[in-house]
Amino acid sequence: MDIAGVRVRRRTLSAALAASAVSAAAGCASTADDVVNAVKPPDRGTVGISMPTKKQTRWIADGENMVKQFTLLGYKTTLEFSEDSVQDQVTKLDGMIGAGVKALLIGAVDGSALTQVLAKAAAAKIPTIAYDRLIRDTGDLSYYATFDNFKVGVLQANAIVDFLGLATPGGRPVTVEIFAGSPDDNNATVFYNGAMSVLRPYIAAGRLLVRSGETTFDQVATKGWDGAKAKTRMARILAAGYPTVVLDGVLAPNDGIARGILEALTEAGYGTPAKKLPVLTGQDAELESVKLIAKGQQTQTVYKDTRELAKVAVQMTNALLTGGEPRINDTTQYNNGVKTVPTFLLQPVNVDKNNYRRVLVDGGYYKAAEIDG
Ligand code: GAL
Repeated sequence: MDIAGVRVRRRTLSAALAASAVSAAAGCASTADDVVNAVKPPDRGTVGISMPTKKQTRWIADGENMVKQFTLLGYKTTLEFSEDSVQDQVTKLDGMIGAGVKALLIGAVDGSALTQVLAKAAAAKIPTIAYDRLIRDTGDLSYYATFDNFKVGVLQANAIVDFLGLATPGGRPVTVEIFAGSPDDNNATVFYNGAMSVLRPYIAAGRLLVRSGETTFDQVATKGWDGAKAKTRMARILAAGYPTVVLDGVLAPNDGIARGILEALTEAGYGTPAKKLPVLTGQDAELESVKLIAKGQQTQTVYKDTRELAKVAVQMTNALLTGGEPRINDTTQYNNGVKTVPTFLLQPVNVDKNNYRRVLVDGGYYKAAEIDG
């Protein structure tokens, strides 16, 4: 980003010098001040970016993409991560408000824990944008930029339906276990609802069996999106419910959780010709999981192009700060308990062994060597 910033500044400088040369040639008086003013990069102030954690690599990419794009528009940025600590995030947001940032972009650790700090931002006339995760219980949130979260769940469940051939009538009942994300993340419920909208009819018809009996959100949620917790739960379920019966599918809400589940499965003897790994979903197209897809160990992931989300959030912020109207495409789905937040929804993309090269390599998200290496 520094390099890009320098490049922009250089271009501005040569443009300004060229302009002053033209005006000198045209006989206009050109003072030293004119030149200095013209070469100053536009100073649009600092934007605060608060990401929840570095534990999932996607947030690092999200943060860096936003910094790059804000820099090109002439903004400075403060980018902070909070390692999933609510208190740390609130303290860092407080600090940014105190430092006089022009706007705040927030990927919340806990979507229900920011009411007070957003009130402070509002009092200081700092607009706030919820990044990827909705911020709840506040009237002070200006906008929300995210992916179609319900569709994420639908794509995950469709992978289970497709790879297990559930739509073909007359097949044997197959076994599945269900995992969801962190209860403090609003998205987790939306992903779960999307997935269950597809799976519930199969469960009701007896085509899908959940031998643990754990199907409600509270029963299947994974606090902190913690892969280790998911591994422990998977191991417990395998030991109790699948001593001889084989598990055919697992709905995992993201890649980190899928990898935890995969460890438990492998330790329980799955992944041999006699005991094939179950169909296993994911989300975020993290490099480690895309490698597992290439090797046939994880079945699917949901790709959310963080470059596009960053672009939308940056454009929203820039519009707000320059007196424009941010572009939105949803005004109904995201009520945060106080208001329905104007939202821009991007489309998530299903990725599996059949299309990962086309989507992720041809799309420039990863290099082939990164995946195969
Ligand atoms: C969600 C996000 C997912 C995934 C998950 C784990 O809020 O929408 O893409 O990253 O958090 O961090």
